Amino acid sequence: MKFLIVGASGFIGSHLLDELRRSGHEVIGTASRPGVHGLLKLDLLNDRLIDAVPMQFLESGEPPVVVLTAVQGNMDRCLTDPETSHLINVAKPIALIRDAIGFGCPVFFLSTGHVFDGAFGNRGEGDPTNPVNQYARQKFEVEQFLQNECPSAFIARMDKVIGETTQHHHLLTEWIRLARDQKPIVCVEGMEISPTSVNDIARGLHRAAELGLKGTYHLAGPDRMTRAELAHGFCAKGNLSTQVIEKPLSAFGFLDRRALKSSLNGNKFCDATGMGFSTAGDILERFFKNLGGHASPPDHGSIHI
Ligand SMILES: NC(=O)c1ccc[n+]([C@@H]2O[C@H](COP(=O)([O-])OP(=O)(O)OC[C@H]3O[C@@H](n4cnc5c(N)ncnc54)[C@H](OP(=O)(O)O)[C@@H]3O)[C@@H](O)[C@H]2O)c1
Repeated sequence: MKFLIVGASGFIGSHLLDELRRSGHEVIGTASRPGVHGLLKLDLLNDRLIDAVPMQFLESGEPPVVVLTAVQGNMDRCLTDPETSHLINVAKPIALIRDAIGFGCPVFFLSTGHVFDGAFGNRGEGDPTNPVNQYARQKFEVEQFLQNECPSAFIARMDKVIGETTQHHHLLTEWIRLARDQKPIVCVEGMEISPTSVNDIARGLHRAAELGLKGTYHLAGPDRMTRAELAHGFCAKGNLSTQVIEKPLSAFGFLDRRALKSSLNGNKFCDATGMGFSTAGDILERFFKNLGGHASPPDHGSIHI
């Protein structure tokens, strides 16, 4: 199969690129910046699909599956710069999807458990949506566009995706840095998540494409836990004496609202694909195994999703 990953320099996009190439698929990946090794430049703000991707890739043989992972994922920046974030998260992706549909490409869109209001977790695909912040409303707008105008699209909703190495910036790289700096891990009290391995997300998207799945699915690990519970498990697995503190959401000074319980129920996807997702314990185990002696992860900047 052929794939185009828009946003292949990102956390999920780069893992998907590796997964698909390892399996022998023909894959083109893009980044918004020029000069990223092995990737084409496609800045959604300035470039159309046909500006960035060779026509031959789009037109010859079977059309590529277009996977949209590009995002402005900083929730507070989505609020403070609604015009630019709407362009990156909604208007330009929709324009690109229209172009992709014109070439007959199947479309994959990555969305979020934040389309629910967070009053309770373990949400299924049929539960009523009610996004409470700008970022989630933007993701939901694309979901609605796809449901109305491209019902054959695959929409993957995810909650807290975490990595198994320190190569990218994610929750565990942030926590290992805090541990190294002898600072406490401060968690939002009562914030319930479904920790999900980024490798499982990559495998899941791959499987969904091969099966030709359509519609909305939740790709989520089997555990639902608070951030503090995950942090305690993290410290125990890593033999760390790092303090874990819980504070109410209001103490964090976020500019926009947050869904408190964003955990998702992934049963529908597992039933459709026969795939199992790693437990939080397994992810932590592999993270510390991969960490080996490298207690100082590279600095990836601040985490935002
Ligand atoms: N990570 C999670 O826990 C999580 C959870 C739920 C849903 N999601 C969804 O999953 C998707 C991927 O998330 P992620 O964590 O992998 O994001 P990420 O690491 O922040 O990657 C974002 C990607 O978007 C690209 N990008 C940013 N601005 C762009 C622009 N103007 N034009 C083109 N590309 C642009 C980036 O390219 P550059 O490197 O060039 O900037 C990068 O490749 C997103 O749709 C997100 O909403 C993620």
